[in-house]
Amino acid sequence: VVSRGSFKAPLMIIGEAPGATEDKEGQPFVGRSGKLLDEMLISSDFDVEQDVYMCNVVKCRPPKNRRPTKLEIEYSLPWLYQQIALVDPLVVALTGSTALESVIGMKDPISSVRGKWLNWNNRLVMPLFHPAYLLRNPSRKELSPYSLTKKDLFEIHNKLKTIFKTPSMRYSLSLEAEMKDS
Ligand code: URA
Repeated sequence: VVSRGSFKAPLMIIGEAPGATEDKEGQPFVGRSGKLLDEMLISSDFDVEQDVYMCNVVKCRPPKNRRPTKLEIEYSLPWLYQQIALVDPLVVALTGSTALESVIGMKDPISSVRGKWLNWNNRLVMPLFHPAYLLRNPSRKELSPYSLTKKDLFEIHNKLKTIFKTPSMRYSLSLEAEMKDS
């Protein structure tokens, strides 16, 4: 399961590994967590097909959805780093602790680093709660993981708007795409 979305996207979202639905459909984040993630991105004004590229640390579904082993992660990382280099996104969002630890080697709990801008190899990175965690903690009250993640997605959207220096991200994204094409 390689990717979903646009390879010209300014935002790359990296998860842990495909689940059963992803394995069946051959696309990341198309099960229950993915549906929630899409819904939250859309309500933060992202176009999920053009503004976002989604993928996972591990490309194959671990049996019974267990966490990927160290060895599985080690084998998968060269592919992921190639994806990051090729897509060259302005922002990388790491959802959940597996992505955070595997990609940038950070062992801090997500709850203490989510929503913070990190600089990794001169790339803007933001850790986010994993959408599966939001499904397990469904409260939408203020300060719930859901509402904090909404806030983080707004923050990412605002950052991209500032980078593009125009009020409409979609407009400037199409300009950016034309520039990449030419
Ligand atoms: N689906 C994915 O593709 N990745 C995850 O990390 C979870 C669900």
